[in-house]
Amino acid sequence: MHHYSWALLALSAVSPAVVSASPLTHRRPNYVSHQDRLNGVKEAFQRSWNGYYQYAFPNDSLMPISKTYVNDRNGWGASAVDAISTALIMENDVVIKQIVDHIKTINFNRTVAGGEGVSLFETTIRYLGGMVSAYDFLTGPFKGKVDDASVKAILDQAVNLADQLSIAFNTPSGIPNNNLVFNGPNGPVTTNDATNGIATIGTLILEWTRLADLTGNATYAKLVRTGEEYLLNIKNPAVGEPYPGLIGTDVNLSDGTFADSRGGWNGGTDSFYEYLIKMYIYDSTRFGELKDRWIKAIDSSMKYLASHPTTRPELTFLAAYNGAGPGNLSFVSSNLACFDGGNIILGGLTLNKQEYVNFGLSLVEGCRDTYVNTVTGIGPESFQWQDSKLGNVSNNGAAPSNQAAFYQKSGYWISSSAYILRPEVIESYYYAYRATGDTKYQDWAWEAFLNINKTCSAGVGFSAVTNVNAPNGGSFYDSQESFWFAEVLKYSYLIQAGEAPYQVNADHNNQWVFNTEAHPVRVAGKPI
Ligand SMILES: *[C@@H]1O[C@H](CO)[C@@H](O)[C@H](O)[C@H]1NC(C)=O
Ligand SMILES: *[C@@H]1O[C@H](CO)[C@@H](O)[C@H](O)[C@H]1NC(C)=O
Ligand SMILES: *[C@@H]1O[C@H](CO)[C@@H](O)[C@H](O)[C@H]1NC(C)=O
Ligand SMILES: *[C@@H]1O[C@H](CO)[C@@H](O)[C@H](O)[C@H]1NC(C)=O
Ligand SMILES: *[C@@H]1O[C@H](CO)[C@@H](O)[C@H](O)[C@H]1NC(C)=O
Ligand SMILES: *[C@@H]1O[C@H](CO)[C@@H](O)[C@H](O)[C@H]1NC(C)=O
Ligand SMILES: *[C@@H]1O[C@H](CO)[C@@H](O)[C@H](O)[C@H]1NC(C)=O
Repeated sequence: MHHYSWALLALSAVSPAVVSASPLTHRRPNYVSHQDRLNGVKEAFQRSWNGYYQYAFPNDSLMPISKTYVNDRNGWGASAVDAISTALIMENDVVIKQIVDHIKTINFNRTVAGGEGVSLFETTIRYLGGMVSAYDFLTGPFKGKVDDASVKAILDQAVNLADQLSIAFNTPSGIPNNNLVFNGPNGPVTTNDATNGIATIGTLILEWTRLADLTGNATYAKLVRTGEEYLLNIKNPAVGEPYPGLIGTDVNLSDGTFADSRGGWNGGTDSFYEYLIKMYIYDSTRFGELKDRWIKAIDSSMKYLASHPTTRPELTFLAAYNGAGPGNLSFVSSNLACFDGGNIILGGLTLNKQEYVNFGLSLVEGCRDTYVNTVTGIGPESFQWQDSKLGNVSNNGAAPSNQAAFYQKSGYWISSSAYILRPEVIESYYYAYRATGDTKYQDWAWEAFLNINKTCSAGVGFSAVTNVNAPNGGSFYDSQESFWFAEVLKYSYLIQAGEAPYQVNADHNNQWVFNTEAHPVRVAGKPI
């Protein structure tokens, strides 16, 4: 889940990354299961669930230190709904029942007082994704865990939610408005924004298409497809498509033109690219065009955005851009963007392109480096570097003097030092492990988990911290995002677990695909 919470900064340039050749194999590796590690992740899940259940449920999120709650996601119990697919995978029957009983009671027509502002994107990936995944799980590998009437009620609630959100698509272009306001006399309204971003437009298609396929109501799929079309067929490519397949960020809701040429793999754009290949996995017949676009975007990322820091040129990061050309690049990346390696590995497996798998693995190594070089062993929210090829130009400045030594050793410097319980680095370790079977990725994930457990265990759960490069993470934010349950704990668990139908396969026969919040969705038309 890739969430937009920080703004893109400046710029810079690059050369194609060198990828090491290794033989293409389609054999499924022998995966190793570590029961002790699985137990460790389960303990963390249970501890944070207990804190949430006692002090916050059925509100959205636990404030673990002050032992209270915050309604930061509409007040529908975001942590509970977001935790369901993880609780199912862990077969935590008590928690599964608590969540299912809760889902049946949610009134999606209203938000809690003070929580009127609803994000279409966040609500889709956490709530709609959580419920659709729960339905797929409970009619598939976990059939029988919950009575049939409750399973049906989950799908009915997904429909209730989607029906309330549908107003978002009522714009001149059909591109959704991301921001809704609930609780008015005539139901939800939009905020009539001028633009919406490509991540918030393009990260709906999996959840809404799945809902359409499950209910037989094609309207849900059509609604999201309209916005996607503007991202695939750019009306003003001189502005909107600075590199082939790599596009701008904001799209005009009146006429569907792009309003800028900035982008990359950071927040605000990220999961648009992620879903292009995931939709092809979901249904290769309907979404071939999205796969073609993903290939273009990856080829351009390898050619134009891959960058190596001056002090550690063996590392690979992806630059951001503000238009085409080296002078428009910005050598900045983020913890969030570290999903990129995993997504590119997944696409490489799907398309039988070892070149992509290798490139993805090199990005995974770069992201691991951001973890191992800090005091806590956790990577920072965002980081920068000086590109090794570009030379001393205005968009390729040196490290600030107080971080020069850190940059010398690490190959990056810290531009935002927080850690807010983001999953993406462990997510990419997961794909790297499933692709290669190399147990070093399990060890890296376990090491990250232990460091997070040590640094972020706080009060009655886990908390975001202010500074990954200070002892004990600096101080606590008193915040436990719902994606802690949905993503960090799920990927930390799955990478140490044995075979299961929903595990990612090292071939192109995946029966499940994970939404950006790590909720597994059953691919269309494939038997379990
Ligand atoms: C995680 O942290 C908790 C609380 O400090 C501790 O009890 C537990 O043993 C830790 N888990 C692992 C696997 O080290
Ligand atoms: C939040 O929790 C409080 C205390 O348990 C409870 O009174 C309130 O109804 C809850 N609100 C929502 C929206 O769940
Ligand atoms: C929610 O609103 C819809 C109309 O949009 C209505 O049909 C439904 O009964 C309402 N549900 C609740 C629980 O109020
Ligand atoms: C399909 O969903 C749309 C959007 O909510 C709704 O207006 C329509 O009535 C539904 N159609 C059927 C046949 O249920
Ligand atoms: C969006 O497009 C409309 C119609 O072409 C135009 O009037 C408006 O200025 C544009 N808005 C932005 C933010 O670019
Ligand atoms: C930045 O990109 C824009 C649009 O692609 C281009 O016109 C401009 O020349 C570029 N500037 C630099 C410094 O590369
Ligand atoms: C980089 O260029 C700036 C001016 O463009 C200059 O002041 C600075 O000394 C240069 N640094 C190096 C390391 O060459």
